[in-house]
Amino acid sequence: MPGIVLVGLQWGDEGKGKASAYISRGAGLTVRFNGGANAGHTVSVGGKSFSLHMIPAGAVSSRSAALGPGVYLDLEALFKDLEQLEQSLGRIELVVSPRAHLVLDLHKELDKSLELLRSGERIGTTLRGIGPAAMHKYARLGLRLCDILEEDAASLSAAHLWRSLWEGLLGRVEEAWLSRLRELAERVRGFVGDVGGRIERELCSGGKVVFEGAQGTMLDIDHGTYPYVTSSHTVSASASTGSGVGIKAISRVIGVAKSYTTRVGAGPFPTELHSPIADELRRRGGEYGATTGRPRRIGWLDAVQLRYACRLNSVDEIFLTRVDTLSGLPGVKVCLRYDGVGEGFPETVASLQRALPIYREIPGWPPIGDELRERLRREGYGALPREARRFVELVEEELGVPVRYIGVGPGVEDVVEK
Ligand code: IMP
Repeated sequence: MPGIVLVGLQWGDEGKGKASAYISRGAGLTVRFNGGANAGHTVSVGGKSFSLHMIPAGAVSSRSAALGPGVYLDLEALFKDLEQLEQSLGRIELVVSPRAHLVLDLHKELDKSLELLRSGERIGTTLRGIGPAAMHKYARLGLRLCDILEEDAASLSAAHLWRSLWEGLLGRVEEAWLSRLRELAERVRGFVGDVGGRIERELCSGGKVVFEGAQGTMLDIDHGTYPYVTSSHTVSASASTGSGVGIKAISRVIGVAKSYTTRVGAGPFPTELHSPIADELRRRGGEYGATTGRPRRIGWLDAVQLRYACRLNSVDEIFLTRVDTLSGLPGVKVCLRYDGVGEGFPETVASLQRALPIYREIPGWPPIGDELRERLRREGYGALPREARRFVELVEEELGVPVRYIGVGPGVEDVVEK
């Protein structure tokens, strides 16, 4: 009864959508347990591409999705995802936790206002209202799906209180928000269910459950590069609290890492590149945010950051994506340590900005195109160019964790196992 957690080990956009679609093959359920519509998971199966924000991407394989209580629920985004999936795949199972907190339009407006207030120190959020929704939730004035569905008087009056505070500051009042929300909540009523119970049943009957993390470890509110983080937990431990099962439901943790590093939004990034190689990788990899379309910042793989992420997540094995995007370069660098800072991963923005990455450069590998991909599908890992295998081995040596899956192309079928 495997409960497999899949989390991003960098700053998000590691290719978790595709990794989850691969790992969710044969699963009875794929679960989202954190984040909200700030996530953008792109997955392409059999030539068809999906861009999902609320429903876990693994549902394209498992055809069964759950959204746990740890998710910030954007109902409009949820329906868009559902329509997109059902148009191509037909009906899928969907279970939504009644405990999930709702993201309101006001949260999105506040997200924008708070960013403007920060002026030069902007986080570069996705403007999907996640920070303000978290403020609301942790102030214990939040509105959950069950509160709206059951017309819970105390919760509704708390939400009114919260709204009037912020509407006063923003200088605008919207009357229709609750009726609009009620309409959306009614549409989701048929999908509401006990997510923890559904997971437990699946596991007890011998099924496989995949917990699909959103964002990445370095965006975790406690463990990431604060304050340039998101407002939820992104580490593997949050799969348990965010979905409503105990930690023993988790038997394996897969960490997803891209062969180079990207970051969208502001914040420290020790191995960031400001060179034509970054432009080339951005172009080849289509490195633009799936939610906002912003160009992603690009840098070399950072083993210091990844070692920290492997420890935080108890990673059992690595899913290394985009070895094909990194192909065709004369040389490839991996950061092995930082100079100028103490032991471990630096806590403050200033110390991360001081960190001087010390690299090892290894030879690059020949371009991985369609012909080689075809061979890789037939022959597996052995068909990977020798230099690319050396890169994979260097990652394993530096992180002390085996690389088990390697992404060599955009499709779910373009994965080789080692
Ligand atoms: P928020 O989650 O929209 O508040 O944004 C906070 C930070 O997390 C910003 O730097 C965002 O760009 C980043 N972020 C949020 N979601 C994702 C994601 O799914 N992929 C990559 N970065 C993300």
